Amino acid sequence: MREYVLKTNDFLVSQTDEAGKIIFANEDFCRIAGFHLNELIGKPHSIVRHSDMPKAAFKSLWDTVKEGRVWSGYVKNRTKENGFYWVYATVYPSDGIDGVKSYISCRRKPSLKEIEYAETLYSTLN
Ligand SMILES: Cc1cc2nc3c(=O)[nH]c(=O)nc-3n(C[C@H](O)[C@H](O)[C@H](O)COP(=O)(O)O)c2cc1C
Repeated sequence: MREYVLKTNDFLVSQTDEAGKIIFANEDFCRIAGFHLNELIGKPHSIVRHSDMPKAAFKSLWDTVKEGRVWSGYVKNRTKENGFYWVYATVYPSDGIDGVKSYISCRRKPSLKEIEYAETLYSTLN
């Protein structure tokens, strides 16, 4: 599996509805994940899930944002061509002015040391 190593200025953003369906993704997200925006909109965010990711990480993410708090953590995602990339994600709950709740994830490049830490931690979970 081929790794895409994020560049310092890569900044991947996506937004979901309350059920985890993608309602927005920025250019960096689409380019790095290898999907066209129209292949992502309306799809569950697990479309980029990598099988190495422990369930516990996503349980922690969802439990945290559903409580209205901000979640941060390391995520290994898969690309459309079955490659992968690591990100450090911060996920925010958002109460829209229209009263519609959504969730926004902003992702930056993790250092090699951070990736090694996450790999070790995640290998002990599941
Ligand atoms: C704003 C937001 C962004 C998310 N980003 C990702 C992501 O980049 N990769 C991922 O695998 N799951 C992401 N998730 C979690 C997914 O919704 C889902 O819980 C996860 O992929 C596990 O899928 P499963 O519950 O079908 O096993 C995100 C969730 C939210 C709310």
